[in-house]
Amino acid sequence: MDCTEALRARRSVRKFKKGVKIPSEHLRLLLEAAMMAPSAVNSRPWEFFIAESDEAKGALMAAHPACRMLETASLAIVVVGRPDLQPNFDFWPQDCAAATENILLQATALGYGSCWCGCYPARPRTDEVCKALGTNGVPVSIVAIGVPDEQPAAKGFFDPDRVRFMR
Ligand SMILES: Cc1cc2nc3c(=O)[nH]c(=O)nc-3n(C[C@H](O)[C@H](O)[C@H](O)COP(=O)(O)O)c2cc1C
Repeated sequence: MDCTEALRARRSVRKFKKGVKIPSEHLRLLLEAAMMAPSAVNSRPWEFFIAESDEAKGALMAAHPACRMLETASLAIVVVGRPDLQPNFDFWPQDCAAATENILLQATALGYGSCWCGCYPARPRTDEVCKALGTNGVPVSIVAIGVPDEQPAAKGFFDPDRVRFMR
């Protein structure tokens, strides 16, 4: 699947085939994709926590009010911002969003479903996820990944009214 196909095939999937293990080479590809994202001044202000066990996914579900799909997901990748790596500017949320989208597209290309569950800047979920991870970083997103057990319709569409050409 090429990039044009992957970004049109991507959907938020919230029901997965339970008990499927994602092979380590696929997890590696997902994390590589995340770290290939563009980053302001190439500061790469991120780290990635993997939740695979029922206990780890349960801790995230308890901390975040809208990630129940982790119940059936194979794993979650939590994208955590590191503002300390950008001491003179604040582009880390965008950098982490770019990393998150790269994970979604790589997951699609590998045949997995995924769902972006937002953390920062919503409170108190950001603080609760922080506590669950035991990190001083700032959780930006929890990405649920697994083999889809539903085929949601596409929600994205092209709207020419949102396009403005500068004169
Ligand atoms: C910043 C952000 C936060 C989101 N947070 C959640 C969330 O907490 N839980 C959830 O189920 N979906 C979440 N989503 C997924 C959106 O609901 C979804 O992208 C939207 O409904 C469009 O559907 P699609 O992804 O299938 O195109 C989030 C998406 C983004 C970009």
